[in-house]
Amino acid sequence: MKFFADTAVVADIRELNDYGLLDGVTTNPSLIAKSGRDFKEVIAEISALVDGPVSAEVAALDFEGMVAEGEHLARIASNVVIKLPLTLAGLKACRHFASSGIRTNVTLCFSANQALLAAKAGATYISPFVGRLDDLNIDGMELIRDIRVIYDNYGFETQILAASVRTANHVREAALAGADVATIPPAVIKGLASHVLTDKGLEQFARDWAATGQTIL
Ligand code: E4P
Repeated sequence: MKFFADTAVVADIRELNDYGLLDGVTTNPSLIAKSGRDFKEVIAEISALVDGPVSAEVAALDFEGMVAEGEHLARIASNVVIKLPLTLAGLKACRHFASSGIRTNVTLCFSANQALLAAKAGATYISPFVGRLDDLNIDGMELIRDIRVIYDNYGFETQILAASVRTANHVREAALAGADVATIPPAVIKGLASHVLTDKGLEQFARDWAATGQTIL
């Protein structure tokens, strides 16, 4: 499963990239607002930093506006992926970009039928929002499992990008459900490396090693 960082904070992206843990980045208007940065400037900076796909979301709600904005964003860098909302206009724009070879990430997906439509529209990625469904006491991960079955039934190549991932358990469950990608907040990605028994074991090894009085170098 690929890991995308769900953030517009360049310092966090640089850190994860240096660990070799990053396959791409997703942003959304809320993350851009939180960063306090200029949208196109920050997308250009992230795209230059990361080898993989960087999702940049259109703001327009109509087909013509989405196409104009998407084409503008796609010119920033070759790894920019156009993020489109799961609406009829967004699906029409998705088909337009698929026909012109521009990659898309169809976002705000909350049902298997929506995911089916996105695949039929030629989406590169579909983003089912796991955490926001969980917030409503609906099992978000069941949606990932359903989409996996549907896409495999028909051989759709659209990649399932588990979004609105909030916890380490979401990451584990998305991997078990066969998501192709999870987009994850940086703190959650770093937290995946932690285990209390790892810390305890390291402390013990350090004490025992010190008692030997030896050095390696
Ligand atoms: C990413 O593409 C989504 O916009 C993001 O994962 C949404 O996460 P949230 O529900 O925690 O805002």
